[in-house]
Amino acid sequence: MIASHLLAYFFTELSHDQVQRVDKYLYCMRLSDETLQEVSSLFRKEMEKGLGADSNPTASVKMLPTFVRSTPDGTEKGDFLALDLGGTNFRVLLVRVRNGMRHSVEKHKIYKIPLDIMQGTGDELFDYIVNCISKFLEYIGMKGVSLPLGFTFSFPCHQNRLNEAILLKWTKGFKATGCEGEDVVCLLRDAIRRREEFDLNVVAVVNDTVGTMMSCGFEDPYCEVGLIVGTGSNACYMEEMKNVELVEGDEGRMCINMEWGSFGDNGCLDDIRTEFDVVVDENSLNAGKQRFEKMISGMYLGEIVRNILIRFTERGLLFRGRISERLKTRGIFETKFLSQIESDHLALVQVHSILQRLGLESTCDDRIIVKEVCTVIARRAGQLCGAGMAAVVDKIRENRGMDFLKITVGVDGSLYKFHPHFSSVMHETVKQLSPKCEVTFLQSEDGSGKGAALITAVACRIREAGQH
Ligand code: GLC
Repeated sequence: MIASHLLAYFFTELSHDQVQRVDKYLYCMRLSDETLQEVSSLFRKEMEKGLGADSNPTASVKMLPTFVRSTPDGTEKGDFLALDLGGTNFRVLLVRVRNGMRHSVEKHKIYKIPLDIMQGTGDELFDYIVNCISKFLEYIGMKGVSLPLGFTFSFPCHQNRLNEAILLKWTKGFKATGCEGEDVVCLLRDAIRRREEFDLNVVAVVNDTVGTMMSCGFEDPYCEVGLIVGTGSNACYMEEMKNVELVEGDEGRMCINMEWGSFGDNGCLDDIRTEFDVVVDENSLNAGKQRFEKMISGMYLGEIVRNILIRFTERGLLFRGRISERLKTRGIFETKFLSQIESDHLALVQVHSILQRLGLESTCDDRIIVKEVCTVIARRAGQLCGAGMAAVVDKIRENRGMDFLKITVGVDGSLYKFHPHFSSVMHETVKQLSPKCEVTFLQSEDGSGKGAALITAVACRIREAGQH
């Protein structure tokens, strides 16, 4: 395959032998249709395991109930505060809902979370969050007002109700101590109490996938799946209550936060994991965990590429065998470089300048090889994500006993939005692996933050109805 790709560059001096040696490494990252089909079936099995009460403890896909069952009925209204914690930024939003369907973000602010706060103590993290909220309330002139609040907290949590979320484990770049096993709503309330300045009424805690599904659901009633491909990757969908053995009751549906990033943590993906995936995993904050996520999402793709480039250089296949000090630095090859490199069509000028910034003097052949590595890694990520999604939509179709299902997936995340090919590869894979489903992908605007406010609005409406 690389050979045919390289034919386009008739000026290349790559020898046949060099092409073959490069391809030997990349070969195991080009997934065949059969492999993708297998991944999809394996994922489906893990979903079933996660839903079953007896099998859940050993399932790698945890299928966490979210207690989100109701969708808006159009009578919701009011102002709501939303917090969004999950990536490198913390966001606070004021969302106005009028007649359920019409909603808008009135004001919002983004606060960067410093690394030492992400990986310090839990008290420091929550004090920092409360400090940001305080600044925001002052900015919107609402310091004394206690608005209902929705908290998008994008980590795996065990929930027994909508406004409780026990953190199971940190993922992505977070490692703050004293939080795992604790209810994050209590941690937030404690921090608010410590500050003695304002009070907040936490109505709902939701995952970003759930917020995304919900906010897209306002635009498109077929939207019953949420997908994030950004720093991390995960998906949620509406499951029949009768299949959710962890929660009592058989009526209606509940949204399930699958936490699909941990697919493969039981070793079931070992056949397709390569030496590069293993190294990236071993050097991460959470070795052995989130193996699927580490093959798909923004936090890791650059690291995979960096490790391949190092290996190629050591084998004399790149940069005349000379590795720069900078290339040896973990995290230096950002995932946005993959997008920039793949957008570079003609003379590979961008590739040249990115490599130069990494202290690497490249020849034309080097740039062609680097671009090919980026293509292969992003393509594999798109395909794996598609294989997971195909299993999800096909399960929904079977749940409903339908021969054909039309469904919409609400999507958010930087890799999905900004990579030039990731989304199309994923769409293609879903189409190929779930031919009985017609899947539309709807890109969400600000979904994870807005969604939490909307879920809060629905919960407030139901709560008020119960009081009458
Ligand atoms: C990680 C988190 C998950 C979140 C995803 C996308 O996988 O564990 O909860 O949805 O990242 O942000």
